[in-house]
Amino acid sequence: MIDTLNQCDGFIIGSPTLGGHAPVQIQTALGLILANVPKTKLVGVFGSYGWSGEAIDLLEQKLRDGNYTFGFEPLRVRFSPDREALETCVVAARQFAQQLRKRQKQQIARPTLAKAQTDRTTEALGRVMGSLCVLTTQTDGVQAGILTSWVSQASFNPPGLMLAIP
Ligand SMILES: Cc1cc2nc3c(=O)[nH]c(=O)nc-3n(C[C@H](O)[C@H](O)[C@H](O)COP(=O)(O)O)c2cc1C
Repeated sequence: MIDTLNQCDGFIIGSPTLGGHAPVQIQTALGLILANVPKTKLVGVFGSYGWSGEAIDLLEQKLRDGNYTFGFEPLRVRFSPDREALETCVVAARQFAQQLRKRQKQQIARPTLAKAQTDRTTEALGRVMGSLCVLTTQTDGVQAGILTSWVSQASFNPPGLMLAIP
């Protein structure tokens, strides 16, 4: 997936919300993207939901925090898309394609445009998958480890983690 995304100028990612979360496969894909796919890619987010739609918020927030540029505003569709929602999708896709073309032209005009520098802390936080894991620490040369039942990102600046310890 990462190889394919790295060959593309942009990508669109979507998710349903199940039990207040994105499915694990989506969370895994998102973690890999944040850690491995340059922030210079154009992105889009879409999702179906029933009543709360947390997965769409998660995708949007993580990609915004990762400094990716959005080709269209995230699309939220309640259950199955109706005719109007499908038309909105077509408009968004057109907008995305136009932006891609515009960027390609700009890149031809400025081929030396530097790729965004990846902040390694942001990269590390992007890999946090929110499940059972061993957290390691190092303070004044003293190393320690603890088993946690949940880890997720709590803040960006300063970079913070939220832990659940059994
Ligand atoms: C088991 C289950 C749990 C769900 N949990 C949520 C939820 O927490 N929040 C929400 O907005 N929608 C929830 N939904 C609604 C789904 O997001 C919605 O059915 C799906 O996005 C629409 O796709 P579908 O046509 O494949 O069902 C849930 C649906 C199922 C079946």
